[in-house]
Amino acid sequence: MRNPQGDVFVIEGVLGKGEFGAVYLVRERGKLHNIFALKEVINPDKGARERFAFEGEILKRLRHKSLPRVYSVFENDGLKRVYLLMDYIHGQNLEVLRVKQSGHCFSLPLVLDFIDPIVDALMYLHAQNPPIVHRDIKPANIIIPTGGGRAVLADFGSAKEYVPGSATTMVGHRSPGFAAIEQYRTGTNTRTDIYGLGATIYALLTGLTPIDALSRVLGSVTEGVDPLKPANQIKPTLPQSVADTLQQAMSNTSADRFETVEEFWHVLQDSVTQKMPRVSSIDQTQSTPPTQALADRNTQSLPKVQRVSHAHSRVLLRVIAIVLIIVALAVAIYSYLRDLPILLLCCLVLLFLSLSVLLHDVTIRARRRRSQNLYKAKG
Ligand SMILES: Nc1ncnc2c1ncn2[C@@H]1O[C@H](COP(=O)(O)OP(=O)(O)O)[C@@H](O)[C@H]1O
Ligand SMILES: [Mg+2]
Repeated sequence: MRNPQGDVFVIEGVLGKGEFGAVYLVRERGKLHNIFALKEVINPDKGARERFAFEGEILKRLRHKSLPRVYSVFENDGLKRVYLLMDYIHGQNLEVLRVKQSGHCFSLPLVLDFIDPIVDALMYLHAQNPPIVHRDIKPANIIIPTGGGRAVLADFGSAKEYVPGSATTMVGHRSPGFAAIEQYRTGTNTRTDIYGLGATIYALLTGLTPIDALSRVLGSVTEGVDPLKPANQIKPTLPQSVADTLQQAMSNTSADRFETVEEFWHVLQDSVTQKMPRVSSIDQTQSTPPTQALADRNTQSLPKVQRVSHAHSRVLLRVIAIVLIIVALAVAIYSYLRDLPILLLCCLVLLFLSLSVLLHDVTIRARRRRSQNLYKAKG
């Protein structure tokens, strides 16, 4: 393999093979220590190749500890391929590691450790101007370096600059279970990565890939219930608050997700107490024991969850508002009949406030229903 500058790269192995090409371990000829990962994307469509190359150029300017540095992007029109030369991360991806675990899942503290650098990388991507949306967050795209070290986020094949107001015209590759509903249509934005991140944590904790977003939307419309099982129904040892937080991150309506990855991460961390259980180490009987340092940590015990779930607090708020309306109305009538103007005024203010709370709640529910109908109409 030769790049336009004439440097020759010798393929030493295959790191991964996908739908649109492969990722190779390569060595620069004549330079023993220059080892890279070379991603090859095969696409017969010249426009798509140009777009990928353009997006590769954007990645070249990025510098982050949890992103492989991209050194060059070049096209081979004859072979209808585009290449991305980047840092080689010596390790294994989280999907490979996950299936090696007993129960095919990791403990909560270990998942938090794995994901922390990925959150950092996503915050960095979203802070670019314009923000860069990765659009393919999933365990197979997270590499855990052998012998410890920070997790690295790979696979920028779907990454895109997000320009507010401009619709995503290219409906590209999507990973079922990890892709948000907008990836089946158009209009991805930074919250698309919150969905992918929530789904990744869900899969790592439960051992199951979440049901795909399209089936969820269809199920919600036809059956009236979201078929996505809360994480703690699959793994009962998980706190309710963690399950609720993941459910919110994976909301089908992107506006219902957290506003930023940072907010999602803080809420998730808040939902786990300071005293966590001893990390049930990565299954040592398996072939590759990754991140030894993590595996050796102390175990802790999970606290009782104190956070009232989001859904429950909404119902409570609604009940309180209705009770207040009834009380305020009754007292208002009484004060009117008894000619008590100050009490009447207080009741009217209370009535107004309770009605506003109730109306706000009804509007949110109506908006949700409208968006569900919209999905139904589209598909
Ligand atoms: N920079 C890299 N260093 C080491 N391994 C990598 C690198 N990039 C990708 N891989 C490995 O190759 C696999 C496929 O790469 P990826 O970029 O995700 O391609 P695809 O588009 O086929 O999903 C990854 O799951 C990971 O195991
Ligand atoms: Mg991938």
